[in-house]
Amino acid sequence: MQLKTLAVAVAAASQQVAAQELMRFGCSQLTIDRIDPLVNPGSLPSPHMHQVIGGNSFNASMFPNQLDPPTQSSCTSCTYSEDFSNYWTANVYFKAKNGTFKRVPQVANLGLGVQAGMTVYYIRGYQASAKVTAFPKGFRMLVGDPANKDAKKVPSGLCYRCEANMQQSPFGGAPCTGSDTKGFPKNTCGGGWRVTVTFPSCWDGKNTDSPDHKSHIAYPASGTFESGGACPASHPVKIPQVMYEIMFDTRQFNNKAEWPADGSSPFYWSSGDNTGYGIHGDYLFGWKGDALQKAMDTKCSGDRCAALKRQTDAQAIACTKSQTVREDLGTDKCKLFR
Ligand SMILES: *[C@@H]1O[C@H](CO)[C@@H](O)[C@H](O)[C@H]1NC(C)=O
Ligand SMILES: *[C@@H]1O[C@H](CO)[C@@H](O)[C@H](O)[C@H]1NC(C)=O
Repeated sequence: MQLKTLAVAVAAASQQVAAQELMRFGCSQLTIDRIDPLVNPGSLPSPHMHQVIGGNSFNASMFPNQLDPPTQSSCTSCTYSEDFSNYWTANVYFKAKNGTFKRVPQVANLGLGVQAGMTVYYIRGYQASAKVTAFPKGFRMLVGDPANKDAKKVPSGLCYRCEANMQQSPFGGAPCTGSDTKGFPKNTCGGGWRVTVTFPSCWDGKNTDSPDHKSHIAYPASGTFESGGACPASHPVKIPQVMYEIMFDTRQFNNKAEWPADGSSPFYWSSGDNTGYGIHGDYLFGWKGDALQKAMDTKCSGDRCAALKRQTDAQAIACTKSQTVREDLGTDKCKLFR
């Protein structure tokens, strides 16, 4: 292991952290399950499989008047132990030439000791003085669209990075810049993919959800959240910008002889999309009390902060939940796209 490379990369990451005042922490895999309490509450199964992190009160339906994550969870797979939120995305599969599907495994991000899962960010932005309002109880949101087939319709802040190696070297560049793509990487990647899912950072200040799970949130009226862009009048409340990074270890699928001869991608989101433009993410707020507001007010950064309780990586890893909808985790094509 090139410790020097890792040290340089982590130093670069912490510089970004300092500049942007962002919390960055690992959450281990809670479960892989075919339920979706946001888009398809109560559906057993939901239309596609998900990989999920966070509080173990995750359930097929989680209406705010029915389930309070901090009260009903007994553990969380996130390193900040007062965070019982749930964060989820679809899974990625590789389709072999003989038609079988295999799930692409996830790995923990650089410098984090959790297993699989995702890296979660809560970004305050560069405007250090601006008030950032934590989400209210019951808040939830969605970004991206599993049915999207158009690169131009992928929201900014959602993208793929083809990593040359597992050290993510050369390191750098903000997410969704440089040669990052809106669709699945077209070539083999020596270090797998880093998939970024960024949520809008403005809120209407009233609704904890909306029929499309998006209308109550919005992007800044001009510029970007990071550059201090102001929120539009319709959505005046600045909320933390939530961002996921998912590391998909595609290395076992790097034999191009196994890829389709017609140039199409061998990779599929569990939603059936093989362009990658159907990238999307779901968020269901579940921090205990005012912990997230305290984290914003005291400008917590990284995965350690005086204002917040932290558990060990081993405790985060130990928090798992068995599948509600029993399903093969990787190979059953019929079930995958039913
Ligand atoms: C979990 O979801 C199921 C299916 O929708 C529902 O019947 C049950 O009440 C939910 N549990 C809780 C604690 O909300
Ligand atoms: C299909 O191909 C994959 C990849 O080469 C292989 O691992 C798997 O065993 C094959 N399955 C069948 C049923 O032939």
